Amino acid sequence: MILPIVAYGHPNLRKISQDITPDYDGLNDLIANMWETMYYSSGVGLAAPQVNRQIRLFVVDATPYIKEHPETEGFKKAFINPHIVEEKGEEWAFNEGCLSIPDIHEDVMRPEQVHIVYRDEQFLEHDEWYDGIIARIIQHEYDHLEGKLFVDKVHPLRKMMLKRKLSDISRGEIEVAYKMIFPLRKKF
Ligand code: CO
Repeated sequence: MILPIVAYGHPNLRKISQDITPDYDGLNDLIANMWETMYYSSGVGLAAPQVNRQIRLFVVDATPYIKEHPETEGFKKAFINPHIVEEKGEEWAFNEGCLSIPDIHEDVMRPEQVHIVYRDEQFLEHDEWYDGIIARIIQHEYDHLEGKLFVDKVHPLRKMMLKRKLSDISRGEIEVAYKMIFPLRKKF
């Protein structure tokens, strides 16, 4: 089932998400729906708060980057209860976008490597390091669980220039090819 995606400005995108237990109701269906929603909207990652669940869960499929980044081959994973332990390496710029913030793409600086612990769908614990583009997607999705968005990281002057566009998104005054929940849409 394709789920509506919460748009910029919604308070639920600013909350800290909580860990879940293996008996979390409907977890497998939720993950399946998140994959379906992510592919339908042509994303490479989707976090639970974006579909209005304040839980620590995100999905990543990095394979669309295969051409420029061969290490993404077959990289498709759900991360349950992820916690970043450490980030290191030099900060580098990458042009990020977000399904909750359609039509805005900005260069964002983040450290090169990330150390993360998480559970898979069988609730087995993993303790892994990632770098490059895979780390980048993980860092972006992880931020959603902490109530952070990539536009928070752009230069304040640049963000001022985006203000109008961001408020249009919150009010639903944009063309978007997938279903969204707009926090400030006028009711008729
Ligand atoms: Co995002």
